[in-house]
Amino acid sequence: MAMTMSSNRWVPNGAGVGLRLPHLAEVMATRPTVPWLEIHAENFLANPHATELLMEARRDYPISVHTVGVSVGSVDGVDHVHLRRVRTLVDMVDPPLVSGHLAWSTHAGEYLNDLLPLPYDEETLRLVAAHLDEVQESLGRHYLLENPSSYVGFDTSTMSELDFLCELVRRTGCRLLCDISNVYLSAHNMGYDPYKYIDGLLGGDVGELHLGGFTPEDDEAEPGAEILIDTHAARIAEPVWQLYAHAVRRFGAKPTLIEWDNDIPSFAALLAEARRADEVVARALASESRRAVAG
Ligand SMILES: [Fe+2]
Repeated sequence: MAMTMSSNRWVPNGAGVGLRLPHLAEVMATRPTVPWLEIHAENFLANPHATELLMEARRDYPISVHTVGVSVGSVDGVDHVHLRRVRTLVDMVDPPLVSGHLAWSTHAGEYLNDLLPLPYDEETLRLVAAHLDEVQESLGRHYLLENPSSYVGFDTSTMSELDFLCELVRRTGCRLLCDISNVYLSAHNMGYDPYKYIDGLLGGDVGELHLGGFTPEDDEAEPGAEILIDTHAARIAEPVWQLYAHAVRRFGAKPTLIEWDNDIPSFAALLAEARRADEVVARALASESRRAVAG
């Protein structure tokens, strides 16, 4: 699809933090030093008081908008009423980035409280690409599509998740939100190499990175094995930091966001994770430039 919107090349100076409703009043009262924030659009669509605070916050912080209810994988189409409400919020906030998930979460007008998986085949590609065209047209902006956290695959899939995402970029002009934690935990759960997944992405296609915590649980299907659940309820795990450093060395610095949505800690704890992300970036870029000089 020919896109008329301008491509976003925004690179903030440092990692941002997901702004959740429990921290909204504190952030407005204390105005912490953080380069950018990201909200979930759906938290604000029916909450005028929170939206009022948000409009104050946007005077001091760039605020990106992440959607969790735009179901680009639904066979019965995207909910245009929902999309119009998201567009209204996007117009108010004027975010540097707008993103959502490769998943489906609606069926026959019912909203399911989950981001559900898709088979990766030509039929699904055509469906998701058509929906992404609608979303980008409706929002008047490029949309960043986030790689899922995976626990099951489909026997009918004919391509990898990576090839599926790259083909969506090619067909729709969307960009990718690469959730590094999702790459790590999906690779663990599905049995592939997360480093090869990162190596398979083109840096120019990636517009944003996410980092969040996961929770290990016993795998009921395989006694003695462990499955990693994308809970966003814990600190970022060490192997995810290592994978993030690899992604930075490969892609360069990208807008990076700390996500924590359950058992939410103090805002200061989120800022500490963001500072760690900054340190990882500084070290990764320094090692890359040393390698370039030596090479
Ligand atoms: Fe994410």
